[in-house]
Amino acid sequence: MKRSSTTRLLVFTILALVTLGALIMTSNSEAQEQRALYLDVSKPIDARVEDLLSRMTLEEKLALVYADSKFTTAAIPRLGIPRRWLSDGPHGVREDVGPDTWKPAGRTDDFSTLMPALIGLASTWSPELASAYGKVIGEEARQRGKQIMLGPGMNIMRTPLNGRNFEYPGEDPFLTSRMVVDYIRAVQAEDVASCAKHFVANDQEFERGTINVEMDERALREIYLRPFQAAVQEAGVRTVMSAYNRFRGHYCSENDYLINKVLKGEWGFKGLVMSDWGGTHSTNGAVMNGLDLEMGTEVAPYDKFFMAGAFREGLRTGAFPMSVLDDKARRNLRQIIEGKALEERVPGALNTKDHQAVARRVAEESFVLLKNDNSALPLDLSKVKSIAVIGENAVLLQAYGGGSARIKTFYEITPMEGILRRAGDRASVSFSMGYAEKPIDDLANQAIKAAGQADVVVYIGGLNHRQYFDTEGLDRKDMKLPYRQDELLTRIVETNPRTVVVLLGGGPVEMGSWLAKAPAVLQVWYPGMESGNAIARVLFGDINPSGKLACTFPKRLEDSPAHAMGNYPGKDGTVKYDESLLVGYRWYDTKNIEPLFPFGYGLSYTKFEYSDLRLKPGDRDGVMTAEFNIKNVGLMDGAEVAQLYVQPVKPRLPRPVKELKGFNKIFLKAGEQKTVSIPLNRNAFSFYDPAQHSWVAEKDEYKILIGASSRDIRLNGSVRLAETTLEK
Ligand code: BGC
Repeated sequence: MKRSSTTRLLVFTILALVTLGALIMTSNSEAQEQRALYLDVSKPIDARVEDLLSRMTLEEKLALVYADSKFTTAAIPRLGIPRRWLSDGPHGVREDVGPDTWKPAGRTDDFSTLMPALIGLASTWSPELASAYGKVIGEEARQRGKQIMLGPGMNIMRTPLNGRNFEYPGEDPFLTSRMVVDYIRAVQAEDVASCAKHFVANDQEFERGTINVEMDERALREIYLRPFQAAVQEAGVRTVMSAYNRFRGHYCSENDYLINKVLKGEWGFKGLVMSDWGGTHSTNGAVMNGLDLEMGTEVAPYDKFFMAGAFREGLRTGAFPMSVLDDKARRNLRQIIEGKALEERVPGALNTKDHQAVARRVAEESFVLLKNDNSALPLDLSKVKSIAVIGENAVLLQAYGGGSARIKTFYEITPMEGILRRAGDRASVSFSMGYAEKPIDDLANQAIKAAGQADVVVYIGGLNHRQYFDTEGLDRKDMKLPYRQDELLTRIVETNPRTVVVLLGGGPVEMGSWLAKAPAVLQVWYPGMESGNAIARVLFGDINPSGKLACTFPKRLEDSPAHAMGNYPGKDGTVKYDESLLVGYRWYDTKNIEPLFPFGYGLSYTKFEYSDLRLKPGDRDGVMTAEFNIKNVGLMDGAEVAQLYVQPVKPRLPRPVKELKGFNKIFLKAGEQKTVSIPLNRNAFSFYDPAQHSWVAEKDEYKILIGASSRDIRLNGSVRLAETTLEK
């Protein structure tokens, strides 16, 4: 009896526990069911967006489409949508500014790694480094609480004078596309949205806020839109920034053709289009022609923005259908959900050893050795006992300049510091400024004296981020070296022929008569926080330079297309791109103009031999692989960027003589040989035919040119396309 009552008690207890357990499970799964679909990460993105949209009031939707401070949009706490933080820029996470001002917020936690400028990244010709670069940006942005990073810039270098050339990957749409695609993928893999900017044709800073750009459809499609198309269709970029300028008469922020027809229509872009800061001009234009987020309009309060109060009013009166607001809200919500802003965000990382290493590696691989007679470089510290470093850029900090791309960096090793550290006590190193912003007579004389006393001169000059050089809002006035550097360099090379010239800058400069006498010239762009270390490692031979020019260096400004045609900076508010497709090397090659240094050019401390081109057909017409061998026949390990250009033999429409359609960067130990393979698909042969609104790969013969630069073709073969095909 006693035993059976104990058993009953036990059975009862077990039953009770089971029931309780079941109850708990039921209420859990009920909670699961009740949990909003939009929060369920297992559901498809479209369903989550629609669910969230369906729960929103008009005011909440409206709050998504305009800023509530310089770099934020409002939170919607009822639905768990946090405040959204946007930040510049391409080279690191910019310092925070105050809510309603451009003045720094004065925080102590808004430092960031300073990466080399994008023109430098492009000069590495390494999509792998673009990806490593993007990961740094993404991790730092996440750590700094940013959801959208305002980069990369992908405007094409149309003129050497554009003040923002340093922020963009050069003159070629194919190279630009390859670099930005991997950059964007890597940023976005860190749950941070990239922003493809400035859409499109913001190719000069002169009158950038108003200038009207006119160009033919082929130039638009084949040159200027190409990188944006790749960013959208290949990288899945989540946001696009409209440019300040007008295009065919309409502001880019309210350009129906560009935004509604091409970007969202033809390319199927599902993300959001934001204005550049202060680049919105009307409520009707912005609302109806595709803008989804208005930023930076210089009015107060924020409810006075074009897409705020006036948009609300238009919705109330029926001037705007509710569907346009829904579409904009949907696009913003997609970016918010894709960026995991509704979930617990894991921390990122700031300026780790890895980030520093990537910054240095990108810098090292970006330097382009333009000249190296008699192996003047690398410098040998067992022979060189005294070095005269000359030039302001040896000691000038570059991080905090240039406009929106400026960075409050954790540190910046100047070239002088890098050289001092690397030389240690093995050589004496002196420094003289040589020139200054405000001329001081004695500077040049002191530098000449130092040059005369040293075994070797390392001149570190070029451009900087001051007004009228590499800076936002203004273009350069000419293509010359500022501060009478040509004159100074001429005197230096006469005094000491063992002069190595290191040039900083975001694009080409004319080089005076000193060039003939200077044995070595190294173009280093803006190398970021590891600048000095990277420069020293290349100068002293720890690293073999492998960068190649992402832009042509013309002999004179007048040789360059926009200037030769008299189409810069425009007349009466309009600039006509009459050079059409002939941008950069496409111009010099087609017009037979000898540049100072061609696109794709760059020397190494070793030598490479190319051999045995095989063109292997793929499984479809027009799909093929070019295979060839490269051998490092010098004494030093190094990397070579092999380039593939396609030349149509009898095109129906005018085409540039040849165009870059593939490349591969190969590391080879001294004496080593490798097989390089570069795949090509039909895109490599196609052009845009405006009459058919289509890309056309035409039946024709095509030469396949393999080169160490655009003007150093080492191997060639040819292929035939048997059929003409169209691709929308
Ligand atoms: C620039 C953009 C930048 C924005 C925000 C504008 O002046 O053109 O590139 O992202 O400012 O700083």
